[in-house]
Amino acid sequence: MITLKNLYKTYGIDGIRIHALNGVDLKIKKGEFVSIMGPSGSGKSTLLHIIGVLDRQTKGTALINGTDVAKLSDEERTSFRLQNIGFVFQFYSLLPELNAIENTMIPGMLGNDKDARNTAKEVLEKLGIGGRLNNYPHQLSGGEQQRVGIARALVNNPDLLLADEPTASLDSKTALNVINIFRRLNEESRQTVVLITHEQELGKMADRGIFLKDGVIEKEKDF
Ligand SMILES: Nc1ncnc2c1ncn2[C@@H]1O[C@H](COP(=O)(O)OP(=O)(O)OP(=O)(O)O)[C@@H](O)[C@H]1O
Ligand SMILES: [Mg+2]
Repeated sequence: MITLKNLYKTYGIDGIRIHALNGVDLKIKKGEFVSIMGPSGSGKSTLLHIIGVLDRQTKGTALINGTDVAKLSDEERTSFRLQNIGFVFQFYSLLPELNAIENTMIPGMLGNDKDARNTAKEVLEKLGIGGRLNNYPHQLSGGEQQRVGIARALVNNPDLLLADEPTASLDSKTALNVINIFRRLNEESRQTVVLITHEQELGKMADRGIFLKDGVIEKEKDF
């Protein structure tokens, strides 16, 4: 599903070069649930953004679902993302002027799903917020907003679900519920899940943990 070979990412700002990834080799199988952990600044988000085709590596190869994504044009990358990848963000990134169902529909509409509204409704119901379809983000709790964020990531039924600290703004019970949603999606729909978390206890709910430090994989652990 994911093969990363000798991956480097260097950012340049004001003439200063920041080496965020320094040669990452990683394979993630289809249907695996992997957590990525490590200190702040170790390169976790950078890695996830490259896997999620939101950013490009400086050097090395990233094969996602068999595609060498660096070789795609910007337009091809957008449609590749819509078809293959769902991304869940820490701060939900919902549009405040759209209600739950409209926020969830966006990727479906971009992906030309004629039935986007119904699909969105189904996914929201599956995630237990079918009673909040017309609520705007400010009318939802943090946990509910994140479930809308997850619904939006799921609406195109992607093979790959990526989440960057999706529970960082939630209390521990709600956080556990959210990770259980990922666990269930992974088990029932065989979606490959890559989750960044700071919480060891949540990270252990994955099949395997990858520990990053200074832009390299320091260790891996099977759970
Ligand atoms: N757009 C950017 N421009 C310049 N430097 C960046 C950029 N994004 C990240 N960096 C730098 O790259 C390094 C890795 O950042 P990254 O966001 O991947 O870390 P992280 O492990 O996700 O940290 P955190 O746990 O705090 O989210 C850091 O030193 C960061 O300052
Ligand atoms: Mg990060």
